[in-house]
Amino acid sequence: MTFDNLLYQTVQGISIITINRPDKLNALNYDTVMDLNRAISAAQKDPDCKVIIITGSGDKAFVAGADIKEFSNFTVAQARGLAQRGHTELCDLIEHSNKPVIAAINGFCLGGGLELAMACHIRVASSNAKMALPEVSLGVIPGYGGTQRLPQLVGKGRAFEMIMTGGMVDAQKALSMGLVNHVVEQEGLILLCHSIAEKMMGNSSLAITAAIKAINANSQDGVNGYQVEMDEFSQCFDTEDFKEGTNAFINKRRANFPGR
Ligand code: COA
Repeated sequence: MTFDNLLYQTVQGISIITINRPDKLNALNYDTVMDLNRAISAAQKDPDCKVIIITGSGDKAFVAGADIKEFSNFTVAQARGLAQRGHTELCDLIEHSNKPVIAAINGFCLGGGLELAMACHIRVASSNAKMALPEVSLGVIPGYGGTQRLPQLVGKGRAFEMIMTGGMVDAQKALSMGLVNHVVEQEGLILLCHSIAEKMMGNSSLAITAAIKAINANSQDGVNGYQVEMDEFSQCFDTEDFKEGTNAFINKRRANFPGR
C-alpha cells in the first residue's frame, strides 16, 4: 500500500504510520487527511496489525497543524466541510479504532496535530516536543475536536488557558498536565512506543477492543458508560480469549490468545 503523504509499514504486529511532509512540518492538507484515513482504515482491517503508531517525519515536527495555506480562503461552507472531515474521517476514526492507537509526538504538535494526537488512545512525547492549540491567533478556534478532547484530558481550566492564550507547552509541562503519558529522549521515542505496544499485544485483543468501547462511552453524550461497560464485560465471557485467559491463569501458564 502506497501513499503520497505517508510512510506505512507493518512489522511484527505494529503498523507505523509516518506523516511525511517534513518540509511543511507535516501540516495536514486535504490529501494527507485522506491518506491517513485510508492507512488507518487499512490497519484496522489488517489481521497482521495489532497496534497502530502514528508519528511525524523528521526530527522537528509531529504535525504543525492543519495546512493554513490551504484553508485561508475558505468560505463558511468549506470550513464546515473541513471540520467535518477532520472529525469523522480522522479523529473519530482513531478514537473509536478497534485497535490501540499511540501518538509518537516527535516535535511540534500544534492545532490539528494536537487534535489528532488527542484522538489517539495514548500519547508519548519526545523531550523536544511542543504542544499548542494556537487557532485563536489565526482568528479561528480548534475544529478537529480540540475544544472537547483537551478539557477531557487536562480539565476545563487548563483547556481554557491553552486555547485562549494559544501558548505552547513543552513536553514536561504536558506530562504534568496529563496531556501526554510519557516523555522520552527523541532517539528512544519509537522504542518506548514499541514496548508499550508489545505489552498490549500480550493481552487479549478482543478484550482491548471492548475496553476501548467502554472507556470512550465515558465521554459520549446520552450514553450510559456504566451500561456499556456491563455489556462489554459480559460479552467477553462468550469469547475464546476469555476461556484461554482464565484457563491459563488457573493452570499457571502464559495465555496464548486466539483472538490476537
Ligand atoms: N500550515 C501550512 N504550512 C505550515 C504550517 C501549517 N500549519 N506550519 C508550518 N508550515 C510550513 C511553513 O509555511 C514553511 O513552509 P515554506 O518553507 O514553504 O514557507 C515550513 O512549514 C517550515 O515552517 P517555518 O515556519 O519556516 O518553521 P519555523 O521553525 O520557523 O517555525 C512553527 C515553526 C511551528 C513555529 C511555525 O511553522 C508555525 O507557527 N506554524 C503554524 C502553527 C499553527 O498555527 N498551527 C495551527 C494551524 S490551525
